[in-house]
Amino acid sequence: MKIVTTVEELRGQLRGQLRTAFVPTMGNLHAGHLSLMRLAAKHGDPVVASIFVNRLQFGPKDDFERYPRTFQSDCDKLEAEGVYVLFAPDEREMYPEPQEYRVDPPKALGDVLEGEFRPGFFIGVTTVVLKLFSCVQPRAAIFGKKDYQQLMIIRRMCRQFSLPTEIIAAETVRAADGLALSSRNGYLSEAERAEAPTLYAELQSVASAVCQDGGRDLAGLERAASDRLRGRGWRPDYVAIRKRSDLTVPGADDRARGDPLVVLTAAWLGATRLIDNLEI
Ligand code: PAF
Repeated sequence: MKIVTTVEELRGQLRGQLRTAFVPTMGNLHAGHLSLMRLAAKHGDPVVASIFVNRLQFGPKDDFERYPRTFQSDCDKLEAEGVYVLFAPDEREMYPEPQEYRVDPPKALGDVLEGEFRPGFFIGVTTVVLKLFSCVQPRAAIFGKKDYQQLMIIRRMCRQFSLPTEIIAAETVRAADGLALSSRNGYLSEAERAEAPTLYAELQSVASAVCQDGGRDLAGLERAASDRLRGRGWRPDYVAIRKRSDLTVPGADDRARGDPLVVLTAAWLGATRLIDNLEI
């Protein structure tokens, strides 16, 4: 695996490649990331990964400074997966001057759910992803469904900017007890780690309630799930049942048509914020 840190070296390595499959990451790689690398190999060749902890998508109170950085073990894992090039720029390479041009996702999609609780998050994500795409010029790029809203926003960005990159969605990888794999799981204490699978269990119980009673009172189901989490010591930011197509609140017509739904959540357990979702 070639490790390159500059855009110039990256372009040199990828010159003439028309079928590159790309997996952008912030490092601290776990089995979920590695499943993205494997999916990438099915959608293109060579596979290129990036590791860049993107300050632009962290708010002032977020965990940018303490975000886990495990570069050497990440490299070993990527090498074992047969990744061809790892692009690992530093901040000066990615942002040699203040990033004044930014992507601004539509408010209806970018300022709700994660965007409501992490203002500016999706501006930071889409701006860095557009820059990374411009450096790598991938034919396909892989994003996990765990970041459901991110995946949707990036897919629409590609469509609206006519980017030649196909966005491929990868299923969420879970621990045996149901907890979605995440770099932030490493922040959990032993007791919190034991409690953490409750988040997915709540999503499952909301999903089965929607299926069983036809989901007449979706807001009531969301409130009940939040209350149950609160009762176990969580601080939920949201539990939200939304249309899969655009993450808006389903109306009676949508329900009558049987529009596919997804339930999404973000909740704090101690000092750790976890997110998860489940398609219904
Ligand atoms: O999902 C992530 O790890 C990040 O948001 C991404 C897509 C690598 C952009 O920094």
